[in-house]
Amino acid sequence: MTKDQVLKILAENNDFCSGEEMSKRLGVSRASVNLAVKSLKKEGYEILSVTNKGYKLVSAPDVLTPSQIYVYCNRDRDIVCLDSVDSTNDFIKRGISNGISDGSVVLAETQTRGKGRSGKSFESPYGVSVYLSYLMKLDKHIRDLDGLTAKVAVCVAETIEQVTPINVNIKWVNDLLTNNKKICGILTEMNVEGDTGIVNYAIIGIGINVNNEKNFFDGELKDIATSIKAECGKEIMRAQLVGALIDKLDSLNNDLDDNRFFNEYKRRCINIGREVSFTLNGEKVSAKAIDIDPSFGLIVEFNDKTRYTISYGETSVRGIYGYV
Ligand code: BTN
Repeated sequence: MTKDQVLKILAENNDFCSGEEMSKRLGVSRASVNLAVKSLKKEGYEILSVTNKGYKLVSAPDVLTPSQIYVYCNRDRDIVCLDSVDSTNDFIKRGISNGISDGSVVLAETQTRGKGRSGKSFESPYGVSVYLSYLMKLDKHIRDLDGLTAKVAVCVAETIEQVTPINVNIKWVNDLLTNNKKICGILTEMNVEGDTGIVNYAIIGIGINVNNEKNFFDGELKDIATSIKAECGKEIMRAQLVGALIDKLDSLNNDLDDNRFFNEYKRRCINIGREVSFTLNGEKVSAKAIDIDPSFGLIVEFNDKTRYTISYGETSVRGIYGYV
């Protein structure tokens, strides 16, 4: 579509780009370029038109549309943007029987039944955050997928640092924190064949608090959650964040065994060196987190120096989320 291609050229160019140059590059008439610019302006893009110089993109609306996202990533297919949906993970699940492609991405401005981990619901306020699900079609044994969610956590952390000025840590296993408060949660749902342990697909659901105002998080949430905007004080263009994230997830999907993720995860893991509490055999216990094992389990050491690796479940970390 000419409009999307014109937008991509304008967004990649910080300067003016002539109508003639764009029509040559795209192999379309000058009139088509003009029409594309007109229609972009109608959608809220601010585009300067100057005789003898051409067009320059001044600002773009913070909307999530496939064409806006294609500008910021290396693909031009399989992105669906919805206004409202029950859960983007469930939307993908329903699409699987209709043969949707590997790598399909679904986003929504809000979710009416957003899902969190451990059966919790996930609040999804309209128009300020990113609710994204990514489909990985797989044919791997469950034991070879250890750490998939941890690797996704690294992808999200790197993306946020690439696009915004804030630093991101990971609380085992996959909460993303900045200044000790949560900015992102990840829910991975897999389909495992019971008799073989083969996983056919994983749906990776990512919720990032992006442009929520500081005072959005009050009451109980005040010490627990934050957003990118609340931390860095400026509005983030969600399409740019999403585009960069899709590129990272695409490269993870192309090489799930890439071992660069392990050290990167360990470096960011905020648990290490701190006291954590967790449930062991139905009892609440605490120990010091000392390392990550090759399957991305959290190795802890008790006072008597015995060690244990936590592979599933939640941990509370002393000093974080009000655990003192
Ligand atoms: C958690 O921290 O408990 C995980 C939250 C995961 C939320 C995301 S938003 C997109 C996707 N769709 C859902 O229903 N949940 C995930």
